[in-house]
Amino acid sequence: HLNRPTSRPKVVVTRNLGPDVMPLLLERGDLEVVLWPEDRGCDRNWLLQNAVGATALIVMVGADKIDTEVLDSAGPSLQVVSTMSVGYEHIDIAAAVKRGIKVGYTPDVLTDAVADLTVMLALMAGRNVRQTMKVVDDGQWPTCPWSPFLFCGPQFSASPSRPVRTAGFIGFGRIAQATLARLIPFGFTNCIYSSNPSSTPKTSRDLELKAKLGLASLASVTLDEVAARSDVVFVLAPGGSGTRHLVNEAFLRKMKRSSVLVNTSRGSLVDSDALAKVLSEGLIWGAGLDVVEGEPQVTADHPLVKEPRCAILPHIGSATLETRIDMARLAAENALSAIDGKPMPASLNL
Ligand code: DGY
Repeated sequence: HLNRPTSRPKVVVTRNLGPDVMPLLLERGDLEVVLWPEDRGCDRNWLLQNAVGATALIVMVGADKIDTEVLDSAGPSLQVVSTMSVGYEHIDIAAAVKRGIKVGYTPDVLTDAVADLTVMLALMAGRNVRQTMKVVDDGQWPTCPWSPFLFCGPQFSASPSRPVRTAGFIGFGRIAQATLARLIPFGFTNCIYSSNPSSTPKTSRDLELKAKLGLASLASVTLDEVAARSDVVFVLAPGGSGTRHLVNEAFLRKMKRSSVLVNTSRGSLVDSDALAKVLSEGLIWGAGLDVVEGEPQVTADHPLVKEPRCAILPHIGSATLETRIDMARLAAENALSAIDGKPMPASLNL
């Protein structure tokens, strides 16, 4: 497609969006669709070359950095950058605003998938899933002598000895609230959260949510209180410089020894070295991570990978077939709506 003169608006897509969604783009004869042809992250040079003269870029989180270099390459024809993700820290939003470029993203459609996985990681971290699966994988199923307390961890559900369970959230948006709803049957009757200090208190939202979920308490508190009072701390705030290392050594040292940390948002929120340290010192029980700072460069000798009570997944929070198709469709619809001059189904309020 390079250098081919065309009067049709060009849509550059950095990954194949699959058979359910690609036809939405390809069947639009009035558009020129340029697709990165390989099943791996799009090469930066390919993107820079193909962005030239584009009207829309449909891009991926983690792989594509949409900075001023890419925006400059595209030039004044660019109307919209649509990312197939709810996170958008890979896009230079300020630069997009300056140029009047719209930005589309994919909130809501992934909330349930990520909330499901968040609960799964909390259970995995508490119940020694990493160690116990390894024992089986290695053909070392424990035989006799039967050991009453082998592989025991703290119970996730409320129990007669610990009837009050408190869920703590760093960030309390859509995914956090969906996670909280899933925790109710486990007996989490108390919820505390710490959110963006510059946002206005959500008193009526909280009263409504408390009543709807039948919680004993729901309160916005300081970060320190989230650390000290939670049985499980869920990290679910956006990435970026404002939230970097909110979970640092001081935070982790304030957590209960029996508590678990779960991060399904962005790796940058948690100081990996500090987490590895407190895990190795037994200062918290365990961790469940879907994201790690510096990913995808997380090798077997990473300090967190070496911690047996740290269950780590390679950023698969939204990886259900249903959700990924919905995300791809929303990314395509965002781009097409912007091109057609219609309201985008999910655009950032720039
Ligand atoms: C997102 O959408 O931002 C997730 O991290 C990828 O599923």
